[in-house]
Amino acid sequence: MSVERHIFGDPRSTAEACAQYILGNLKQTLAAREYATLAVSGGSTPKLLFEHMVAAKFKWDGVHLFWVDERPVPPDDERSNFKLAQDALIGPAGIPQRQVHRIHAELDPPAAAEMYVDEIRSIFRHGPAELPRFDVMQRGMGNDAHTASLFPGEPLINDRQKVAAAVYAEKLSQWRITLLPGVLMAAHHTAVLVTGEDKANAARSVFAEPFDPLKYPAQVDLRDGMDVQWFLDRGAAKLLAG
Ligand code: 6PG
Repeated sequence: MSVERHIFGDPRSTAEACAQYILGNLKQTLAAREYATLAVSGGSTPKLLFEHMVAAKFKWDGVHLFWVDERPVPPDDERSNFKLAQDALIGPAGIPQRQVHRIHAELDPPAAAEMYVDEIRSIFRHGPAELPRFDVMQRGMGNDAHTASLFPGEPLINDRQKVAAAVYAEKLSQWRITLLPGVLMAAHHTAVLVTGEDKANAARSVFAEPFDPLKYPAQVDLRDGMDVQWFLDRGAAKLLAG
């Protein structure tokens, strides 16, 4: 188990280093077996990351792509995390659709979550009492220290059994479908990509405040994660000690 922070001068060099970490771990996994699994986040930050992953001309054969969370919109909606990845990564990199496992968030949220859990099980083939272990997971963080769609106060932050669920984000008055803490913590390699001064307070809280994921959800795998690498630009890291 290791948690490390890597700080870079600007969002572009931060995204580039994060891309190398993700692709490096996928390559290692594919050297050991026929397929690898990657879960990515949405929001605005991943766009630069995806562009670097495309520019790296990586061979995506065998990589199964999933999402950490999704908004309750159709796949062609500008707010869709799937659309972000489709436009900035899947299309440009030519990732075959059979390897793309999106969240059908246009459906009723609980149904979308259930369908996603079945899709994950069909690829991971994990047992009923087991959790799927992603080879690589890319997460972000909001300026309230939320990660995935686990917002402060969300009761499922204390869950360790379930794979994914529909959660109602009060502050957004919106349903979200999200992977749950047990799966986040089980990931073999996690990259948390955070850029921008508006995230500085949240980053300070995550690393300086007492462990309380219900208050600072991005702390969720600070203690029991596997390999958790934080990639921050100088703006996001400006209040971090040491
Ligand atoms: C989402 C994300 C979410 C994101 C943070 C940061 O669907 O919004 O997956 O967890 O990582 O909200 O978002 P930004 O990158 O837009 O700051």
